[in-house]
Amino acid sequence: MSVVDLREVPDFTANPYPHYAKLRAEGPVHTIRTSDPGRIWLIVGYEEGRAALADQRFSKDWRSSDSWTASSNPINANMLEMDGPEHARLRKLVAREFTARRVEALRPRVEQITGELLDAMVPAGRADLVDALAFPLPMTVICELIGVPDLDRDRFRLLSNAIVAPLSPEKESEAVHAMGTYLDELIEDKRRAPGEDLMSALIQARDEEGDRLSPEELVGMAFLLLVAGHETTVNLISNGVRALLDHPEQLALLRAEPELIDAAVEEMLRYDGPVENSTFRFTREPVRVGGLVIPAGEAVLVALASGDRDPGRYRDPDTFDIRRGAQGHLAFGHGTHYCLGAPLARMEGRIAVRALLERCPGLAQDPDGGELDWLPGMLIRGVRSLPVRW
Ligand code: HEM
Repeated sequence: MSVVDLREVPDFTANPYPHYAKLRAEGPVHTIRTSDPGRIWLIVGYEEGRAALADQRFSKDWRSSDSWTASSNPINANMLEMDGPEHARLRKLVAREFTARRVEALRPRVEQITGELLDAMVPAGRADLVDALAFPLPMTVICELIGVPDLDRDRFRLLSNAIVAPLSPEKESEAVHAMGTYLDELIEDKRRAPGEDLMSALIQARDEEGDRLSPEELVGMAFLLLVAGHETTVNLISNGVRALLDHPEQLALLRAEPELIDAAVEEMLRYDGPVENSTFRFTREPVRVGGLVIPAGEAVLVALASGDRDPGRYRDPDTFDIRRGAQGHLAFGHGTHYCLGAPLARMEGRIAVRALLERCPGLAQDPDGGELDWLPGMLIRGVRSLPVRW
C-alpha cells in the first residue's frame, strides 16, 4: 500500500490511467489524500473493487463514518446515500420507470430528439459536441421523463457541474445549498400543478407502509435522477466519440459495421467511462481487502476506471477495441446500487453515436478547438467541451 497525495500528481485529471496502473502494480488498495478532508482508501484492483461494491460491510450511509460529518442538505436524502430497507424503499418507487421494457418505449422520442439536435448542428460544419448533442440529449430525455420540461437547464447545469466536479469544497457547498432550494421550488410548483408524470406520481405516492415520501426525500430523488440522468450520459457520448476519433481504425470499423454499435458502447464505458470512481462507502467494521485491513468507519472509493483497465481482467486493457467484448465492466457499478439508469444510458449512447456518425461522415476533432478542459475531481471523467468539425 502507498499513500498518495493526488494534489501532487501532475496531469492526473487529464490522464489518470498511468497513475492507476502504477498503483495497481503495487497492490489493490492504497490510501490517498485529496483536497477533501481526511484519508480515503482507494481500491484499484478489478476483483477487489467488484467485491467491495457488493459487500454490505461497506455502508453508503454517511452516518456510518467516523471522520466525516454528514451534510444535512435534503439533496443527500437519496437512495445512493442509503443502505438496506431505506435504500430498497426508495429504489422500488422508481425502478419500474427504468426497466429495459419501459426504456425501449422511449426509443422513438430519443431518436427524434437526436435527429432534431443534429438537424440544428450539421449545417454549421463544426460544433462543440457537448453543447450541441451530448448535453441536450440526456437532459431533455430525463426532464421529460420526470416531468420538468421547463427546468432552467443552464442554471441547473452550472449547479450540477459544481457538485459533481467541484472546483473547491466551498463552491461545492454553495452549489449544494442552491440546488436544494431550486429543487424545493420546482417540487412546490409541481405540487400546485400536477401532471401525468413521474414527479407528480412521486408526490402522490405512498409506499407499502402507507407513508408518503418526505419533502427531503422528494428533493433527494429529484436531485439524484436529474443529476445521475444527465452528467454521466453526457460523458459517455463525449468520451466515447473522443475514443473513436483518437483511434481512426476503430472509427472506420464502426462506420463499416454499424451493427457493432452495442459492443462499441460497452467498450467506450470500459475504456474511458464517465464515472471514474464510485461514490463514497464507509466501513461498518474492519474489512480485509487484498491482504490489508481497512479499519471501521473509514471512507472508501472504488476506482471503477482503474478496475476496468486491470490486466488481470482484460487483455491489453489500454487498447480501445470495440470487438473485445467488454462485458463485466464496472462503469455502471455493481451490487445493490448498480446503476438504475443503465438501460436508458445505453440506449441514448447507442442512438447518439450511431446517428452522429451517419450524419457527419468526415467527423474529426477541430484542430482550432484549443486544449481540452477536463472536469476536475475524481467522480466524473470528461471534458467541458469537445470541438469537432466534419
Ligand atoms: C453512461 C451513463 C451512466 C453511468 C456510467 C452511470 C454510472 C453509475 C454508477 C457507477 C452508479 C453506482 C455508484 C456507486 O455505487 O457508488 C450509478 C448509480 C445510479 N445511477 Fe447511473 N449512470 C449512468 C446513467 C444514469 C442514468 C441515465 C440514470 C437515470 C436516472 C441513472 C441513475 C442512477 C441512479 C438512480 C443510481 C443509484 C442507484 C442506487 O443507489 O440504487 N444513471 N450510476
